[in-house]
Amino acid sequence: MTDKNPSAFSVAVIGAGPAGLFAARELATAGVPVVLFNRDIKAGGLAEYGIYPSKLKMKDGLRRQFRQILDLPKVNYIGNLPISLDDEISLADLQAMGFDAVLVTVGAQGTKRLGLPGEDLPGVYHAKDLVYHYNHLPPFSQQSFPFGKRVVCIGVGNVMLDIAHWAVRTLKVEELIAIARRGPADVKFSKKEMETVARNLDLAALDAEFERTAPVMRAIGQDPEAAKAFILSALENAEEPVSETRFELDFLISPKRILTDGRGQVRALEVEETTLVARPDGGSKAVDLGKSHEIACDTVVFCIGDRVDDGLGLPLDKWGDFAKNPNPSFPVDETSYEAFNPELQQPLAGVFLAGWAREASSGLVGVARKDGTNAARALLGYLETVTPKGKAATEALASKVAHLGRPIVNKADLATLAAAEAAQAAELDLPEFKFDSNEEMLAVMGKLQREKS
Ligand SMILES: Cc1cc2nc3c(=O)[nH]c(=O)nc-3n(C[C@H](O)[C@H](O)[C@H](O)COP(=O)(O)OP(=O)(O)OC[C@H]3O[C@@H](n4cnc5c(N)ncnc54)[C@H](O)[C@@H]3O)c2cc1C
Ligand SMILES: NC(=O)c1ccc[n+]([C@@H]2O[C@H](COP(=O)([O-])OP(=O)(O)OC[C@H]3O[C@@H](n4cnc5c(N)ncnc54)[C@H](OP(=O)(O)O)[C@@H]3O)[C@@H](O)[C@H]2O)c1
Repeated sequence: MTDKNPSAFSVAVIGAGPAGLFAARELATAGVPVVLFNRDIKAGGLAEYGIYPSKLKMKDGLRRQFRQILDLPKVNYIGNLPISLDDEISLADLQAMGFDAVLVTVGAQGTKRLGLPGEDLPGVYHAKDLVYHYNHLPPFSQQSFPFGKRVVCIGVGNVMLDIAHWAVRTLKVEELIAIARRGPADVKFSKKEMETVARNLDLAALDAEFERTAPVMRAIGQDPEAAKAFILSALENAEEPVSETRFELDFLISPKRILTDGRGQVRALEVEETTLVARPDGGSKAVDLGKSHEIACDTVVFCIGDRVDDGLGLPLDKWGDFAKNPNPSFPVDETSYEAFNPELQQPLAGVFLAGWAREASSGLVGVARKDGTNAARALLGYLETVTPKGKAATEALASKVAHLGRPIVNKADLATLAAAEAAQAAELDLPEFKFDSNEEMLAVMGKLQREKS
């Protein structure tokens, strides 16, 4: 900040995933007080509740960094408090309280539904719910997601491989088929993630798929051999298999509808066959061929990415993302972090977006971290142009929080919870332990008793 007292501002950051946390660090380091609101009790977002549970070292490293951010005196943490039109505090309420700016880093909490017949059947899931379930995020941790023996995953990104990891190595299902609307050259997963399940691949079926798809790929200038070499390269350092699961990759098919056995149980996924056309940008596009067939299965998982949450009340663009100002006043790295109203063709003054809230299901933790940092820089640029509102927001928030119908969680509570979970892990001789319900977490933090007394 050039000629202003940064302490006279207050900024609300909504969402304490990697984007929100690193944004809070950037703002606090510039001397600006931040209130970090989080839906979940714990901070970390998908770093805590998305990254595969066995990546303990990575998760612990990130938790350490997050704790350091939360320890900053200028960062105030309010967990267990969703900011939403449907909840006790909305984004507009925060603005009315007098926050000088609001940064939205809530991730992509909406479900990307394709509107296919059968999408709501039991046994049909969207990956995020399962990921939250096995990572112990309430309430998903407390819900059951019955799996059958024959699973179809739609999509071939890293989330599909996390679901495959769980289905193959933990649930040990009989068969898992991942389907792609495009071809082997267009898979989105990384070699490292494939290594967890590569040894379960049905190599004969994969060879047949490479042979079948090669002419289509060559017709648009793709290299089938390179695509094959990439997928098979995961075999070199693949993990030892722990199940007999047959893992198959099927290409050039797109989901059409989910079929039942007449008693409401999933019996098959009907898929439409596709071919590839070249795009002007050098990429490929799947085009339906008007021919379909069925894949027998009892469980279907959509691993096709997520979308933003309408509950924030922010205007959307034509792709269903939160709209961004196409001509940003505070661009960073030629990127717009500014929320926008497309109907009025006006920016939402003082409202910024970062991370998966800015670009749903896009990139790794490092990308979200950079995005949060850049958004904070954009926001600092905006603060240079306005007069600070002083302590108004802090006072209004304190009075609102005092009358909330739910217990909220602060930094000291998080430390108490972490100590209680570490003690449980030690007692049970587990590498880590997580309480499955908010009630248990609140109880060890002394929040439930306090509410009752
Ligand atoms: C299954 C899966 C596995 C992944 N594995 C890896 C991996 O191994 N390595 C890697 O680098 N990246 C991985 N990623 C990507 C990484 O997790 C994301 O890039 C990153 O977490 C996005 O950060 P974010 O802060 O934008 O959103 P999120 O991490 O989603 O955080 C959003 C935060 O906002 C909060 N929130 C939501 N709604 C509200 C609301 N209304 N009010 C208040 N708070 C709200 C949530 O509680 C959460 O804390 C994975 C992603 C997924 C889905
Ligand atoms: N371990 C890790 O490092 C890890 C783990 C999980 C997630 N992540 C990251 O998190 C981000 C999100 O991952 P993701 O797997 O959700 O997304 P993704 O990488 O974008 O993959 C989504 C897949 O779904 C397909 N798809 C999308 N819409 C579809 C539709 N309408 N019909 C049929 N198929 C459709 C895509 O096909 P098209 O390509 O044809 O669109 C693609 O195969 C990525 O950046 C990923 O790397 C990382």
